[in-house]
Amino acid sequence: MSNIAILCSGGDVSGMNPALKHFVEYSILKGLKPFLIYDGFEGLIDNNIVSASYKDVSGIISRGGTKIGSARSERFMQASFRKTAKENLDKHNIDKLVVLGGDGSFSGMEIFYEEHGIAFSGIPSTIDNDIVGTDYCLGVDTALNIIREALDAIRDTAASFKRAFIVETMGRDCGYLALVSGLTSGAELCLIPEVPYDLSAYEEKFKEELANGRRYFLAVVSEGITQPSDEIAKWFEKVIGVESRVSVLGHIQRGGSPTSRDRLMAYRFVNFAIDGLLAGEKDKICCFNDSRFNYKSIADVANKKYQIDPALFELARFTSLNCIE
Ligand code: F6P
Repeated sequence: MSNIAILCSGGDVSGMNPALKHFVEYSILKGLKPFLIYDGFEGLIDNNIVSASYKDVSGIISRGGTKIGSARSERFMQASFRKTAKENLDKHNIDKLVVLGGDGSFSGMEIFYEEHGIAFSGIPSTIDNDIVGTDYCLGVDTALNIIREALDAIRDTAASFKRAFIVETMGRDCGYLALVSGLTSGAELCLIPEVPYDLSAYEEKFKEELANGRRYFLAVVSEGITQPSDEIAKWFEKVIGVESRVSVLGHIQRGGSPTSRDRLMAYRFVNFAIDGLLAGEKDKICCFNDSRFNYKSIADVANKKYQIDPALFELARFTSLNCIE
């Protein structure tokens, strides 16, 4: 019997727990012995590796985060610790890994594969949805739904008080979360790192809307823009003349019960990852494009700048969301 393990690396996402559950059941179905590696590459180095059965992953499908923990490991960047990691895998006869993480984790795995020949399959997992080569990263749907609920709630209070709300989303230097949230919440303004903006371009329009009876503004801004959200709020107060508040959604966006879409995607990614390893793929990332899965090499996904689908900007042109000039 061949042994296979799974680990989570980098920022956790809702969808990792359904992936763990399905990893165990699908491995067993395919005649493999499944292992869980706790705390990402840190657990690999510290031999925090345990064999798993159904009961280890029962009841977790509805929970956000990851039961086995995640970490960002500095030590795995050093060859000596990677050697220790390989020795630990050998102790359990594990020669295949499924890695849930981002392109940085996959790059680390590629080096590990080249040095020690441990085959891996990467499952893109980040709420930022910013991994090149795949349209979908596990966790983004749940994050978008959490943000949508927050924005819907903020709209209620914004309307009651005649205020502008600046709602800051995560995403690092990628504006995907903010753009999709701006569109799906009916916001008035969306600012993201990919699009240079000049607030003065909106001044006349917003003032006119206020004069015509608009009661409130919702602005969704990505954490990656150069201006702090407070400055956007000050602009609404001083220039547009409406009382303003800032809401930074923060890590709330990373939690919550995985949506049906993320649960299904978790299952499908895991099937594809394990099938690939069984078919002899050694170092591939599982990608999802145009509703189909495909394997890509690390060179196709890492160290490249993710570009938001231009169709989203095109769509925004036909809505009341101001995000492009
Ligand atoms: O990459 C996922 C993410 O949630 C980003 O959107 C955010 O900038 C970052 O991680 C936060 O990292 P940490 O959890 O280390 O504060």
